[in-house]
Amino acid sequence: MNENSQMTLEVYCKNINDALKRLVRNKLPLRESVCEAMEYSLMAGGKRLRPILMMEFCRMCGGNAAQILEVACSIELVHTFSLIHDDLPCMDDDDYRRGRPSCHKKFGEATALLAGDALNTLAFEVISDAAMNEVISAKNAVMISSVLSKAIGADGMIGGQIIDIESEGKDISLEQLELLQSFKTGALIEAACVMGVILAEKYQKITAAAEYAQALGRAFQIVDDILDVTGSFEELGKPIGSDSEQSKCTFVTALGLEGAQCEADRLTEQALLTLKQFDDCEFLTDLTQSLLHRRS
Ligand code: IPE
Ligand code: IPE
Ligand code: MG
Ligand code: MG
Ligand code: MG
Repeated sequence: MNENSQMTLEVYCKNINDALKRLVRNKLPLRESVCEAMEYSLMAGGKRLRPILMMEFCRMCGGNAAQILEVACSIELVHTFSLIHDDLPCMDDDDYRRGRPSCHKKFGEATALLAGDALNTLAFEVISDAAMNEVISAKNAVMISSVLSKAIGADGMIGGQIIDIESEGKDISLEQLELLQSFKTGALIEAACVMGVILAEKYQKITAAAEYAQALGRAFQIVDDILDVTGSFEELGKPIGSDSEQSKCTFVTALGLEGAQCEADRLTEQALLTLKQFDDCEFLTDLTQSLLHRRS
């Protein structure tokens, strides 16, 4: 990444982290533990990719990115909920996340489950509050809620998670694996980009944003699968070898390490090509390229 992009990334992360902290700061009497668990997982770090994508697409489409900062955090709340549940013993059974014991290791399974649920509903509270406070229009709030809810549910992330779990130990086709991925990881990444375009009211760019997101989403999951084999706990902050331990179907098991890397390269090129349809896309071009070589 060039120096400018690095600085932009740091400013984005700082603003997002500050806004997330504001969103979960209240510790409600008698419900402290669930609030603490939400904050614990949310503030443990993370690349903040999805809110950054939302704000960048909003900005590239002529919208006011700073104004939608809290709305952009809605997708990070949902993403964190998905990670808390993904780590549960009944799911991937992983003990570490974002460099810390996973939520259920620290707070117990019931609290982790509820913290995930509460993060999910908080996301929609943030969006509707933004409309009630006239930060975004009611029409845009309805449109982005529709996009986000679909991306979370059985046609989105949750749909992908169930295929992922039910495919453990099986030999699935590459086509099925691609479908699994496009739901599991692609849906939220696509929602982030499309929500940014909607908030800028440049609806004619939705298709291009979705196309970019689908290519990026697939490349992103392929790299995640590769890092599960080639990464280290210190770099990733989550256990290595989790996929093989759970007999997961991944792009590495389907294509081999080299084949998976080639596919990630190809998809990144495809994403970059789509990005050219947007003005002022230098930062996102840089970010997209850097995600291909990420180590965390
Ligand atoms: C991890 O997502 C789970 C996947 C969908 C592959 P990230 O790699 O974006 O995780 P954080 O937010 O940076 O921790
Ligand atoms: C998780 O995919 C995608 C989610 C919906 C959370 P993984 O199970 O591969 O994510 P990691 O590797 O645990 O972060
Ligand atoms: Mg998983
Ligand atoms: Mg997992
Ligand atoms: Mg993984």
